[in-house]
Amino acid sequence: MTKIILKTIKELNEWRLSNQKDISFVPTMGNLHLGHRELIRESKKLKENLVLLSIFINPLQFNDKEDLIKYPRTINKDIDLACAAGADAIFLPYVDEIFPKNKIKYLKASDDLSKNLCGNYRKGHFDGVCTVVYRLINIVKPKVIFLGDKDWQQLLIIKEMVAKYNIKVAIKSIDTQRDSDGIPFSSRNNLLLKNDREKVRLFSEELFHAKKIFNKTKTIRLNNIRKRLKNKDIKVEYLEHVNAFNLQRSTSEMNITMLAGAIICGSTRLIDHIFLMKRDPIIAIDGPAGSGKSTVTKLIAKKLNFIFLDTGAMYRALSWYLTKEKINYENGKDLNSFLSNISIKFKSVAGSKQNVIINNHNVTDKIRSQEISSIVSSIASIKEVREFLVKEQRKIGEAGGIVAEGRDIGSKVFPNAELKIFLTATINERAKRRKNELEAMGLGTIDFEKLKNEIEQRDFEDSNRKISPLIKAEDAVEIISDGYTINQVVEKIVGIYFETIPKELHL
Ligand code: PAF
Repeated sequence: MTKIILKTIKELNEWRLSNQKDISFVPTMGNLHLGHRELIRESKKLKENLVLLSIFINPLQFNDKEDLIKYPRTINKDIDLACAAGADAIFLPYVDEIFPKNKIKYLKASDDLSKNLCGNYRKGHFDGVCTVVYRLINIVKPKVIFLGDKDWQQLLIIKEMVAKYNIKVAIKSIDTQRDSDGIPFSSRNNLLLKNDREKVRLFSEELFHAKKIFNKTKTIRLNNIRKRLKNKDIKVEYLEHVNAFNLQRSTSEMNITMLAGAIICGSTRLIDHIFLMKRDPIIAIDGPAGSGKSTVTKLIAKKLNFIFLDTGAMYRALSWYLTKEKINYENGKDLNSFLSNISIKFKSVAGSKQNVIINNHNVTDKIRSQEISSIVSSIASIKEVREFLVKEQRKIGEAGGIVAEGRDIGSKVFPNAELKIFLTATINERAKRRKNELEAMGLGTIDFEKLKNEIEQRDFEDSNRKISPLIKAEDAVEIISDGYTINQVVEKIVGIYFETIPKELHL
């Protein structure tokens, strides 16, 4: 095993140029442990990339000088561990190399994400982290950067920074790695005396105990936990129950939350957390007609073993039935009495297909006709229709574990969905796809321009109707699918899903 140690930016550039490969980057501050080994192993999974691990004790992220002085330095052992785990090179720069005097571009971490938990007790720490990670990314130019869920607040802050500066790097993380006694691996564990280690163990044990109770009661009693920790003589710096994504104090309607704390053992500060979830996650996929939503949603549901909630099909089925029964849907009374007798069900059949049944009529194929396409939007804009179907959709979504597609899923039906996607494509691309789809169904040759006009008209109606118009939810991720295959879009969304939901909750 050859050990490639790069000490300067120049050496790093030469190494990168001589290899001509993308880089998977694992930034560390050294004193590597089995958590880091797992990070390297994870980064090795992207076989086409080279793995570069950096060891740089960043002075800017130490709010306490003493902490910086006593931070464990174990370079030779680190190099051995990193190389044995598969790192292709180690970047070991001096401080001046990363932060040349008077040339530091200082960054500020997101205020919202850094004002509580650790940020409240380590002033300037996350600014220092952002400053060094930004600088390292600029130097290393990685394709992917690997971090641990163990430092969840740091992970959220780095993700926010990357998005804010529009940095072209993917961020992947691994779940908190724990030792056999349940303590998370940390470079600071070496500083613990035996008795202190027992305290950390008891702290982690309390968190897991709280999770067990939460799974039954769906509540966290912070004061009880604080009292129990005090009785065990554990000095708690903070213990908070917060929303796992924005770190605001948890409220009853939040689904994924985090119980996080820091304790002081002797002169060492250690953090740990657990994630809590009330129902399985919901993925909301919105977008205009012909963006590929249905196909993509179906495949995602299959991949994640989620229920596929095809809300578009519900509107189509209702439109079909209203037409068939010749209901005057302009008349509120007639419409309400009609709706009170409606039952729409989805039945899985072989493959990833699912049948749409409305009051015992299997309308799976019929609802895809051009006739239904041309009326569904105006029927979907009727207040009573929307209210009825939104209620039905929420009922299906109560237990979570669903992926739903439509036009107002993220904005109206499931505003608390864990992942919101706005899937779109240019009008030409959408018309092309719909034409192929309809022709493949044996509907003869379809007039492209006519279809394009219809789609444009539908976009206009959907976006301008008064009730639940098609809008991109503020927190939705927009994907423009032109030039991507269906499978590439599916992989992208599944990838975002796995990087959004804490890994611990997938296990
Ligand atoms: O998590 C760490 O080890 C550090 O904060 C990091 C990301 C390497 C930045 O110095």
